[in-house]
Amino acid sequence: MRKSRKSPTLTGVIGTPIGHSLSPVIHNYWIEKYNENGIYVPLEVTRTNFKEVVEILPKMGFRGVNVTIPHKEAALMCADLVADNAALLGAANTLSLRKNGKIYADNTDGYGFIQNLKESEPTWRAVTGPALVLGAGGGSRAIIYSLLREGVPKVYLTNRTIERAKLLQNDLGNRIKIIDFVDLEKVLDEVTILVNTTSLGMIGQPELKLPYDKLNQRTLVYDIVYNPLKTDFLKRAAERGCRTVDGLGMLLHQAASSYQFWFGKKPEVSLELRTLVTGKLKA
Ligand code: ATR
Repeated sequence: MRKSRKSPTLTGVIGTPIGHSLSPVIHNYWIEKYNENGIYVPLEVTRTNFKEVVEILPKMGFRGVNVTIPHKEAALMCADLVADNAALLGAANTLSLRKNGKIYADNTDGYGFIQNLKESEPTWRAVTGPALVLGAGGGSRAIIYSLLREGVPKVYLTNRTIERAKLLQNDLGNRIKIIDFVDLEKVLDEVTILVNTTSLGMIGQPELKLPYDKLNQRTLVYDIVYNPLKTDFLKRAAERGCRTVDGLGMLLHQAASSYQFWFGKKPEVSLELRTLVTGKLKA
């Protein structure tokens, strides 16, 4: 007779399209490394089916799921308990499915951004000066929230759609100053960190055009785009003599935080994992 074995702990990521998600590579690497009896699966789910799918997950043995485009807002609506940051950001990227059937929603994007920043640039201090953030989408919200929490005195924000920037400012407070793209030159010298949260520079997208010659060499330049790993934005900044941080670390650290929710231990974001994931990038 077959030896009885506890059924594996299921985790996964819900979104559409989901085929290119790197999360299964990352989480299954940790599951194997830490000898968990588990598996992390990609779940292609449309908007119409999202709620129904989430409700059935605990009955199927799922312990948790990541949530990605286009379900990050809907994920909040399905939850019984919502972390403060997820509530403020209006979006969740991690759901934990508790034994009592309750669903807990959190957002680990801001954590991933800051943790990667601290590991890549241990001497960086939030209080030393203002930040400049390009873009006002979901990623930007999580990043601005975490920068403000770290103590950044001021955040300059610019976005193609000004109304979206205003909504973000309204939700996250008066330390955010909205500026027009054409006025970026005026603040470039002053900012200690510059973050691109737009999709510009991503494979298949237009380049991010900036007055790079006005960049201050002391400004730390961070791109949340990770495909390609070295975007033109980062290359141009490095040519100016700026230190740069790429977006892959943020992806890995937000995943590490989700993993901790489900398996109770913080996994290592190792060079081996970075190399594995870099090998999967299409660029
Ligand atoms: P995410 O959740 O990953 O942040 P998002 O909410 O779609 O994704 O936000 C994408 C960001 O990239 C937005 O700031 C968007 O600007 P708009 O709010 O005006 O849409 C920005 N973006 C995308 N394509 C752009 C382009 N061609 N030019 C300028 N900004 C662009």
